[in-house]
Amino acid sequence: MTKFGSRGQKILKFIHLVMVCLWTGGAVALNLMILLLGPATSGEELYGYNMAAILVDDAVLIPGAMGCLITGILISGLTPWGFFKHKWVTIKYILTVFCILFGTFVLGPTVNDQPQITKEFGLSAISNSTYMANWLNSVLGGIFQMLAFMFMILISILKPWRKSGSAKDAAA
Ligand code: HEM
Repeated sequence: MTKFGSRGQKILKFIHLVMVCLWTGGAVALNLMILLLGPATSGEELYGYNMAAILVDDAVLIPGAMGCLITGILISGLTPWGFFKHKWVTIKYILTVFCILFGTFVLGPTVNDQPQITKEFGLSAISNSTYMANWLNSVLGGIFQMLAFMFMILISILKPWRKSGSAKDAAA
């Protein structure tokens, strides 16, 4: 496959890092909102918090996650880094896909279901068992995702577990 030159590789990496910022920044904002916004003094206020969390999820975090995966695939295909030549890249594929699936099927519903409960119960949603279980799962899942992001950023910088010189040669 034709590979990008150094300029193309830098542009791809730039876009990749913008997407990383969106995904991690969106996750930090969402976690802080879920943890620290409030206490709400009315059902309307709580509903507003719920909707704001969905906005950050849909408009920042999800596009960032998709962008990371797409730019990661492009970097693999269009630069000498390749798909599974390096252990740290393979681990990023596994973790990225896992975080996207976990975010879609486990964390997403814990954010998206809240407004409906608040609509029904008003401010007393905060003593509703489903609402609180969603809240707790969001916090715990959010912490897990942040740790996964920190780990991926770290291995991207360190590029560990490679035979000496091989990654440099491959990326040159
Ligand atoms: C399918 C998923 C991903 C793949 C295949 C992938 C692959 C890569 C590759 C090959 C590079 C080196 C690019 C270069 O130096 O030219 C890179 C850079 C980087 N990636 Fe990813 N990545 C993925 C997802 C992520 C995620 C989810 C994060 C963070 C949460 C991340 C953070 C970074 C960072 C911080 C760099 C820059 C490292 C440096 O230049 O020192 N990547 N990625």
